[in-house]
Amino acid sequence: MFHIPLSSLPAQFGDIDIYLFDQLLKGRIQRGMKLLDAGCGAGRNLHYLLQAGVKVYGADLSAEAIDKVRNLASELAPNLPARNFVVADLDALPFEDAQFDVVLCSAVLHFARSEEHFNGIVRELWRVLKPGGMLFARFSTTIGLEGKLQQVEGRFYRMSHGPVWFLADEKLVVELEKELGFARLEPLKTVLVEQERTMTTWVVRKVV
Ligand SMILES: C[S@@+](CC[C@H](N)C(=O)[O-])C[C@H]1O[C@@H](n2cnc3c(N)ncnc32)[C@H](O)[C@@H]1O
Repeated sequence: MFHIPLSSLPAQFGDIDIYLFDQLLKGRIQRGMKLLDAGCGAGRNLHYLLQAGVKVYGADLSAEAIDKVRNLASELAPNLPARNFVVADLDALPFEDAQFDVVLCSAVLHFARSEEHFNGIVRELWRVLKPGGMLFARFSTTIGLEGKLQQVEGRFYRMSHGPVWFLADEKLVVELEKELGFARLEPLKTVLVEQERTMTTWVVRKVV
């Protein structure tokens, strides 16, 4: 009987987000698809995708992060052009409309600098998706902690570990879904972390 050693999992999957892993298991990301990791950082979610023949692109504000992700890509997917990874603010992506089958945006949206910036980023993620394409986003929200967070101003909150984050609520998410044309592929799922913050997973399909 053939066994895949458990010790090989980190090399295959890196430190992949468990909810993104769930999308892989559901078959929603396939070989040959064009995928943008928006706010990719050093590429912790890209180890498997790069090795699986997904056409990976990445964008991040940090030049250092883009250097790291280019190095990772040159190791795991040497045929992928380094120019697929760009330094950019997600509210002004240097990509044509309707390019991507999948857009990931993991642990980025709560760093939005204003409500306009948050909405502008989500609009850009929608713009670059093909009709029918999937947006997978994970971000901190107020969902489940309404009234229990330290509000600074508007949708900005002081987090227990120090920083001030932009926290969307369910109303804002629903408004954006309606305005842009997104249909849910999953119910909105929110994890409560130590009664201090939440991480919401938003998985939707672009409908036009
Ligand atoms: C916590 S890291 C998450 C990295 C990766 N997505 C992950 O899940 O591990 C947040 C990343 O978002 C990037 N970022 C934050 N705001 C951004 C913006 N407006 N445009 C582009 N990148 C942004 C940061 O530079 C950082 O690399």
